[in-house]
Amino acid sequence: MNSENNIHPVFDQLLSRDQKEQQLNQKGIVLWLTGLSGSGKTTIAKQLEVALKKKGFFTKLLDGDNVRTGICRDLGFTENDRLENIRRIAEVSKLFLDAGVITINSFVSPSIHIRQSAANIIGKEDFVEIYVDTPLDVCEARDVKGLYKKARAGEIKNFTGIGAPYEVPVRPAVTVETKGKSVEESAQKILDYILPKIKYGVV
Ligand code: ADX
Repeated sequence: MNSENNIHPVFDQLLSRDQKEQQLNQKGIVLWLTGLSGSGKTTIAKQLEVALKKKGFFTKLLDGDNVRTGICRDLGFTENDRLENIRRIAEVSKLFLDAGVITINSFVSPSIHIRQSAANIIGKEDFVEIYVDTPLDVCEARDVKGLYKKARAGEIKNFTGIGAPYEVPVRPAVTVETKGKSVEESAQKILDYILPKIKYGVV
């Protein structure tokens, strides 16, 4: 198939993931934060990145609003566009994973199907689903970007939680209930779960 379409991958000639991980003295992993817009995903992800850096880990944070100004700038918020958005992110994450990087992803990723497709691309053993559980009324009361107000006014038709569904994860590795908790506490809960998984040399 590959020779037929003139594509000749050289995966076997590259330095292995294990060699990269050894160099970085860590194990690569993809932390996938899902939740409503304004739930606190990116805020927690940033805190997590700082905490991991302090402990000597090398990370990369990918976030919906940023990615959508670059690699996914041609995509909107229809189901198909969201699926393609997440597919590209998952493929990018896989590249980081191959380089031993701890990738922290912050995407609404609103359906079980979408998150499942990301997990399939990344590989289930390297995909850690983290549900940032903030009730819709709390996200809406915060309305940091003013998008809920616009969605309620009918200016954004398919806004997640208002005009488009959000499916709660069935069995996430970690659930972070942000209501009444500090950002530090939320990040710490995730840290406690992942630290044993990202130390190099620990099985
Ligand atoms: S996803 O559904 O494809 O995973 P993504 O995480 O990339 O979404 O982008 C979500 C961000 O885009 C939100 O935090 C918000 O700032 C913005 N946004 C704009 N329109 C919408 C919409 N219709 N639904 C959800 N988020 C939207």
